[in-house]
Amino acid sequence: MSADIIDGKAFAATVREKVAMHVARMVEEHNLKPGLAVVLVGEDPASQVYVRNKGKQTAESGMASFEHKLPADTDEATLLGIVEQLNADPSVHGILVQLPLPKHLNSDLIINTIAPEKDVDGFHVVNVGRLGAGLKSMVPCTPLGSLMMLKDYHGDLSGKNAVVIGRSNIVGKPMAQLLLGANATPTIAHSRTANLQEVVREADIVVAAVGRPEMVTGDWIKPGATVIDVGINRIPAPEKGEGKHRIVGDCHYESCAAVAGAITPVPGGVGPMTIACLLANTVTAAARSAGLPEPEGLTV
Ligand code: GUN
Repeated sequence: MSADIIDGKAFAATVREKVAMHVARMVEEHNLKPGLAVVLVGEDPASQVYVRNKGKQTAESGMASFEHKLPADTDEATLLGIVEQLNADPSVHGILVQLPLPKHLNSDLIINTIAPEKDVDGFHVVNVGRLGAGLKSMVPCTPLGSLMMLKDYHGDLSGKNAVVIGRSNIVGKPMAQLLLGANATPTIAHSRTANLQEVVREADIVVAAVGRPEMVTGDWIKPGATVIDVGINRIPAPEKGEGKHRIVGDCHYESCAAVAGAITPVPGGVGPMTIACLLANTVTAAARSAGLPEPEGLTV
């Protein structure tokens, strides 16, 4: 194995330190305590874990943390009412509605009811449009964290061919916009792309966000390329005992690491950066709400 390991866990800790430093300064100098509200509907176990971690890290960074846990059968009007109440609350600078929502709720309607300036997920159509237009916006956390790591590793991305595998609104599409904004040349590939493997082999930077365990193997990777593995897949691990699981990425780690110049591990790569960037976005939103300068080191 020859690739450099891009340590997302360590990088996320440095982002959280910067967040805490900005929060302390905002409290001290402006009597402004950034606040993040998280809304969770239902009892999806993975979502409960995320929400617990978010609440813990928000409080550890010195910010105010608000949690709204609602039963799975909450109706749309009630949820919209809560979002509107948070929109109007001056102590809340960031609002996150945990996805996926139960099927009877219209996610698009609910996300687009969040005030765009408090939409720390960057999922509101206004933020999607602003990112596409190259205007100041809230940027989705996973692509933001991925670009931070790429810029930290490479410095300038000018002239790099980047292939993003996956076209989701949460990762693939905003990732391509961020790469374009950083002067790379992005291609968005997906399950219907012809000759996917050959397309990926042209890439200096590969961002894999398809949700298919270990789909990308070393023979897809151009020697020396940088691999950002966004996938978090739980697969059976009988070698660890009956009923046990392990977490793998969208890339087959050993074979990709043998060819790549740098790679993010799973776990410990992109994952920890997502919550760190959520905290970063909340600080940015709070600063903008008060007309303060953009906090340094928290945006790309
Ligand atoms: N569920 C899993 N990841 C996310 C995320 O980044 N934001 C929201 N709102 N829900 C999620």
